[in-house]
Amino acid sequence: MNDNENLPGNIVGIGTDIVECLRIAQMIERHGEQFINRVYTPLEISYCQTRKASTQHYAGRWAAKEAILKAIGTGWVKGISWRDVEVRNDKSGRPVVGVRGGARDAVEHLGIRKILVSISHCRSHATAYAIALGPQVTRERGD
Ligand SMILES: CC(C)(COP(=O)(O)OP(=O)(O)OC[C@H]1O[C@@H](n2cnc3c(N)ncnc32)[C@H](O)[C@@H]1OP(=O)(O)O)[C@@H](O)C(=O)NCCC(=O)NCCS
Repeated sequence: MNDNENLPGNIVGIGTDIVECLRIAQMIERHGEQFINRVYTPLEISYCQTRKASTQHYAGRWAAKEAILKAIGTGWVKGISWRDVEVRNDKSGRPVVGVRGGARDAVEHLGIRKILVSISHCRSHATAYAIALGPQVTRERGD
């Protein structure tokens, strides 16, 4: 993945998702750690658990993972698991996407260099929007 923030790339995919926070709360209540450990990475779990409205942050990450899979364009196919897509937060709180395993293979195969995501949540819903960027755009120079 390209870490250079200043390099623009062709948009090769977009994705969005919305989820009811109540739905995530019910999954956590019914399936507990089994659900959490299947969907979220240890880093995501520790981020959400330390927030006051942890369900909203879990729901935001759920929406982000769905949006990212849509942006990649494969959807949840065999070989890609929830934990292959990780949402971290940088120092400013901005979400940053990491991929591994099957998701990383798909991203590399498709020539995706960077994935951007934006998350929003309130008491009722969480939503996310993702953009997958391809290689740097090259422009021909005209004299
Ligand atoms: C970023 C900000 C606009 C978020 O808006 P909001 O209406 O409070 O909350 P939303 O539900 O719409 O968005 C929350 C998500 O914004 C994202 N976010 C947080 N900081 C961000 C930033 N600097 N850039 C982009 N996205 C950011 C996160 O993904 C967060 O969800 P997460 O914590 O589950 O990962 C707002 O928190 C802000 O201005 N923050 C900067 C100042 C700040 O941190 N103040 C609080 C400390 S005093």
